[in-house]
This record gives sequence, C-alpha cells and structure tokens, in this order.
Amino acid sequence: MENDFVKPLTVWYNLGHRDLPWRHTRAPYKIWVSEIMLQQTRVEAVRTYYARFLEALPDVRHLAVCPDDRLLKLWEGLGYYSRVRNMKKAAQIITSDFGGEFPADAGELRKLPGIGEYTAGAVASIAFGRAEPAVDGNVMRVYARLMADDSNNLSQKMKRLVTEELRGVLVSSFGQPGRPASYPGDGDAPAETGAFNQALFELGATVCTPKDPKCASCPVRPWCLAFSEGKTETLPVRIVPKKHREEDRTVLLIEDDGRTAVRRRPDGGLLGGLYEFPNLPGSVGEEEALAYVRQSGFEALRIRKLPDAKHVFSHVTWRMTGYYITIAPETENGGQNEWIFADRAELKNVYPIPAAFAAYANLLGVLVGKKGKERRINEDSDSRNSML
Ligand code: ADE
Repeated sequence: MENDFVKPLTVWYNLGHRDLPWRHTRAPYKIWVSEIMLQQTRVEAVRTYYARFLEALPDVRHLAVCPDDRLLKLWEGLGYYSRVRNMKKAAQIITSDFGGEFPADAGELRKLPGIGEYTAGAVASIAFGRAEPAVDGNVMRVYARLMADDSNNLSQKMKRLVTEELRGVLVSSFGQPGRPASYPGDGDAPAETGAFNQALFELGATVCTPKDPKCASCPVRPWCLAFSEGKTETLPVRIVPKKHREEDRTVLLIEDDGRTAVRRRPDGGLLGGLYEFPNLPGSVGEEEALAYVRQSGFEALRIRKLPDAKHVFSHVTWRMTGYYITIAPETENGGQNEWIFADRAELKNVYPIPAAFAAYANLLGVLVGKKGKERRINEDSDSRNSML
C-alpha cells in the first residue's frame, strides 16, 4: 500500500478532532484503560467510566491491589467482566515483573493477560510512538474503501492483510517497528504513529462512516479508490457468518441380507449429490421410524436402536438418533425406487457417503452377527393390519 495519504490524514487529525479525555495523555496505563473500555461500549459512554475508574485507580499499582468487588463495581454495566479481571492480572505482572512500568514493545505487551494484537498496537503506538498498527472495525472499513477491496471485511484473512499493509505504511512513514518514532515535542500530543492510528479511528467514526460517508469533507479522498470507482456505498463487503444451529435427525440403516438402503441427496444443497442412509427430520421413536419404512413400501421385520451420533458442519450440527431395521427380502425391489440396496463393498467403493454418516457406516460391520440383540417388532404389535 502506498503511503501518500499518511501526511494529509495526520495533518487533518492534528488540526482538529473530537476532544476525548484519553487524548490528553500519553500515559500507557490510561491509554490501555481507554482502549479496553472502547472495545466494550460507545465513545460517549466511555467518558464517564474512564473518569471514575482513573479517579479510583490512578495507576497500575492501585489496579493490581484493588479488591475484586470494588473492581467489578467500577466496571458494572460495561459487560465482559473477564476483561477487567484480566486487567488486574496484567497490572499485577507489570507491577511485579516490570517495576510498575508498561513495556513499550507490542510483542511484550501481547504476552500480558487480555492484551491482544489490537490493544498492544494501540498502546505501543499512542503511548510509545512505536510503528505498530491497531486495526479495529473502523480501520477495516477505511482500508476497504481506500483500496476498493471487496473481500469479506469481517474475515480474519482480511484483518491479517490490513494489519500487515498498515504495518508497512507505518514503517515506511515513521521508521522501524520497535524503535520509538520522534515525538512532536509538546508533551501531551500523541507520538506520530499514535496520531496516525487515531486519525484512522477518527476518520472511520466521523467521516468514513458505515452509512452515508461524508466524502466531501474527507482528507484522503484523492487517494480513495472506492470514491474514484463510485463504490463508497457498496464497500465494505461484510459477510456475516450464519448462526450455528442444531438439528435432530433420525438415521435408518435398512438392511436385507447384507445390503443396506442408500439414496442420493439432491444436487445443490448440503452434501448435494452424495449418498446417505435414509433419514428423517427430528428424533423419532421406533414406531414412527417403522411407519416411515412402511410408507416407503417396505415390510419391516426387526428394529434395533443404535447409539446416538453427532456431526458438526460449519453452520449446523446434526444430533442423530439411529435405528437398524431389517426388511422382508421380497419387498426390496418393490418399495421406494430412490433407495438403492448396496452391499458392503458397494458402500465402501461405489457410493460416496459423507463423513456425517460415518458413525453409522462404521456400525454396519459391527452389527453383522449380533442380531441376537434385536427386537422382533411384531412381538409388541397387536395390530392385525400391521404389515409386520
Ligand atoms: N476507538 C478505539 N480507540 C479509540 C480512540 N483511541 N479514540 C477514539 N475512538 C477509538
């Protein structure tokens, strides 16, 4: 990524930005507190929490010895209480191992509890002037528009790319990572790498907004590919992962003389074109399973419950109930013509059966020769119309 936009962006930021309390300091402790809080809630809400927290716990040593109840009270309403518990653990380590001074190196910061890549980059750049990126959602959006990048803005792959691209920009503009860049010298202003990272946050929050970006007042419009290509409304592309759901299914191993029923799944959908053991939605009981076999035109002779099984796909988990059902030989050719009766060799070599059914496919070998455990289903049946 070219770095021509860095100067105009940083100048724009330095000429005027939202007056936020954590922008009046370079104390790493305060920057850290603000950055963790900003991961929890809106900027406006952070103001109050930030002031109260720092009044109660003005430095890392106070945090390290703060009783848990008091700490949780200070965090009350922010949520994710493990974050503040981790902050206390980190404060204890900084006090005991670093003499109460924050390490400046992003790699060292990342070793502390609760400090990930983003927080380490924010503290290392804003407090210490290190050439480290700090990539949050705002920065991801700004990058996607600047570069007219239409990959999934929510993917880890894109986040890694943006982090490395911005690291390159920071290093080429401000010096090597790990070495302090020069400070502007007025004591309170953030080091320039910090100003650059905060300028990206500021641009994302106030100009390059998710909806109706204010391109007319954007300091980096001349470098923005989304603007020149007319894509500011369509970028970034955000592919929200589908929520994972759980489904119950009942899988039937329907056998006649060593041959088992399989059927082809419809093209296009989940496992399209692969072969499966007949199965039905829900976790059904023996009678319902038998009724299903009958409706399919087969005469069931025996049924036996099989162990439950589970298969996890990316968007769905199947929780499977299984039955082993033997049918009368003469019905094999007369019933459902979409069912194919395959022998063991064909199951193994001819019909592709997805791993979702592996637990039941594996059982087939096991079941042979153990028919003594099966229940003859007509023993319990008192219906004369039953085909059993
Ligand atoms: N969002 C994340 N970090 C921020 C910061 N330092 N200032 C404003 N918004 C932010």
